[in-house]
Amino acid sequence: MAVLEIKTAGEIVLKQTAAPVKKIDKRIKKLLDDMAETMYATEGIGIAAPQVGVSLRMIVVDVENKRYDIINPEIISREGSNVDVEGCLSCPDLFGEVERAEKIRVKFTTRYHKEKEIEAEGLLARCIQHEVDHLNGRLFIDIAKNIQKGKPQREGQVK
Ligand code: CO
Repeated sequence: MAVLEIKTAGEIVLKQTAAPVKKIDKRIKKLLDDMAETMYATEGIGIAAPQVGVSLRMIVVDVENKRYDIINPEIISREGSNVDVEGCLSCPDLFGEVERAEKIRVKFTTRYHKEKEIEAEGLLARCIQHEVDHLNGRLFIDIAKNIQKGKPQREGQVK
């Protein structure tokens, strides 16, 4: 595995709509592992492929010591809303308040080629929505309010 370079705001790959993953092969699995290693090395709780320069629809999240490798995610329902502070590995030293759905259902393909659906709420739901935005060329700073410089006060908010 390898820690990859994180692309930062201003790079074109972060503005693009990522393409669906067509075939889950060795290369894709290695990329998922490298994304996970990069996320853990930078103390993030989620990472999207465009953040490491690959315009494909896949994300890795680990909010409470459970890693999800999520390929071709589709948010199929959203419920409620809340506002909380977010940061992003691609926007170092910035944080701001973002409104997100409180609860979501997300459909995706696992690295073992299985179709799966999970329900997520709270921070996990927020993190998945933040990462799916990356796949659509959207950064949290495009939608956040009260953007400030520095680090968020609480742990576990940098994505
Ligand atoms: Co991010």
